[in-house]
Amino acid sequence: MAKAAAIQHACSECGYTTGKWLGKCPACGSWGTLVEERIAAAPKAAAVGAGRPLLRLVDVEASDAERIPTGVTELDRVLGGGLVPASLVLVSGDPGIGKSTLLLMALRSLSAERRVLLVTGEESSAQVKLRADRLGGGADVHILAETNLDEVCATLERERPEVCVIDSVQTLYAPELGSAPGSVAQVREAAGRLLRVAKEQGIATFLVGHVTKEGAVAGPRVLEHLVDCVLQFEGDRYRSHRVLRAVKNRFGSTNELGVFEMTGAGLEGVEDPSSIFGRSQDDQPGSAVVCALEGTRPLLLEIQALVSQSDLAMPRRVATGVDPKRLSMIVAVLGRHAGVALGQADVFVNVAGGVRIDEPAADLGIALAIASAARGTRVRDGLACFGEVGLTGRLRPASQADRRLAECAKLGFSDVIVPEGTESRVKMRLTAAETLRQAIQAGLDAGGSSD
Ligand code: TYD
Ligand code: MG
Repeated sequence: MAKAAAIQHACSECGYTTGKWLGKCPACGSWGTLVEERIAAAPKAAAVGAGRPLLRLVDVEASDAERIPTGVTELDRVLGGGLVPASLVLVSGDPGIGKSTLLLMALRSLSAERRVLLVTGEESSAQVKLRADRLGGGADVHILAETNLDEVCATLERERPEVCVIDSVQTLYAPELGSAPGSVAQVREAAGRLLRVAKEQGIATFLVGHVTKEGAVAGPRVLEHLVDCVLQFEGDRYRSHRVLRAVKNRFGSTNELGVFEMTGAGLEGVEDPSSIFGRSQDDQPGSAVVCALEGTRPLLLEIQALVSQSDLAMPRRVATGVDPKRLSMIVAVLGRHAGVALGQADVFVNVAGGVRIDEPAADLGIALAIASAARGTRVRDGLACFGEVGLTGRLRPASQADRRLAECAKLGFSDVIVPEGTESRVKMRLTAAETLRQAIQAGLDAGGSSD
């Protein structure tokens, strides 16, 4: 007896599937994200063979350790020293942030020595050409304007380029699935098929992926598990700096940062981001410079804070570039252990340049900026700091102090507040503070601290 057409409902946020429609996804808790899709007929199970012979790990040839330099230094850095052959890299970011520009730049320089292909589903060939002209010409980049997944895979198998960019994975569709391009089933199918082609034919593939307004890669989480690297392109679309970071990397560290500036002629790598992000814009209260360590690279960042009398029953804590939980914790420690009461105040914190910091060693900078804003007293001129703030109000030393101090010295910050117990061989003036209260006393201009 013929079965009725199989229908399932899949969550467009996390990929959870269920037989019946639900208003709220039980897996990720999003509302209204379950969409109906048809299940493609399962292929007949292949006959089970006798299995395959085994290989000892020591006998495996590891020639794939070599990497392909993309010609875009900051991109290579984030990838962990270049593109790994036959790897699948997902590049995600808000619309207009510069994903297409970045990858076209990489293709242009790669095309000097390798066969490269750009599959564009979003823009026409003519639009890509206009962009390429802005970047200085199309070089030897081959282009395919196609959204049919079968055609794309067939072309890849025939042409076997060394590097390929799919812009974007959400525009591809497999006709047999019947759901719309960009749906969970389509994105999952496209990524799965491209993965197989990439591995079989040895094609290093960049997938461009859109993000939802919450900042997650649209489509199922499945996509993130499939690929070898997930790179996120962030930054303020209205300002010119962009930060590229690896969220997942099977071949390298996930802490590396690439910093770019969007100019009239494409994205330009920023060699020395500290000189941009770490410069205090003005000498008003509420600004502090912290040295965070992103991967192997120390980075000076300016943190700005605003503290104002609240008229709400529950005062606001607004963080841009800082984890909101971390901010709440710091505000609580400031109130309880450092004499900076903020119970009746709105607190806003912002990291300059649209950079996001996750590192606990940035705590001290955040605390100092807030204390400075709350007291209306400037942070001492030419002062930088770093260190983790504990719940008891004590400071904890940060890792790799020497690297951070060297960066501070390079950028002309001769005066650094560090947690007691920080070991360093760099010769410069250090102020060691045991507690947050001491650090604030030492860091703010004299005369302002009243307790
Ligand atoms: P794009 O790469 O199209 O973004 P995405 O693919 O992530 O959606 O970048 C678009 C923005 O970049 C657009 O606002 C114009 C700007 N831009 C420049 O400022 N200079 C340039 O040379 C190029 C190519 C783009
Ligand atoms: Mg684009």
